[in-house]
Amino acid sequence: MRILIINGPNLNLLGLREPEIYGRESYADLCAYCESVCADLGVQCQIFQSNHEGAIVDCIQSALGEFDGIVINPAAYTHTSVAILDALKAVNLPAVEVHLSDPGKREEFRRVSYVSRACEETFKGYGFEGYKMAVEFLALVEEVTGMQKYNRLT
Ligand code: DQA
Repeated sequence: MRILIINGPNLNLLGLREPEIYGRESYADLCAYCESVCADLGVQCQIFQSNHEGAIVDCIQSALGEFDGIVINPAAYTHTSVAILDALKAVNLPAVEVHLSDPGKREEFRRVSYVSRACEETFKGYGFEGYKMAVEFLALVEEVTGMQKYNRLT
């Protein structure tokens, strides 16, 4: 199984950025954590981060035929981006949304997630652990459904 993990704007500043909300571990720590989780589950993964909406759209589009599922933390684009929602719908790969914090318990404007409409599940407020939950969820979906309802070119 091949999983694409996408992280949106400002997540590259983990550790520095509002540590009381996002913790003191760095983005490199998050990548190492995700790689180790995937290796333990026998899942291949690629991790992508961008501060640019269009680059995230391009990345999602390029997943078609290359990956079996997507884990995405769209960061601030969660609450604004119809383009990322549409890209996820277009590729129709199983996708899981992750947030380190729980946006539902923060400012009002974080309560809306466009992206969740194209996601099978959301894990929020579990820190790094949410990425593990998302990868495990996708591995389970593959085992149970064989991914039949999704676009898989290979
Ligand atoms: C976030 C939550 C978003 O509201 C915020 O804009 C982020 C990070 C999280 O992981 O908790 O940048 O997605």
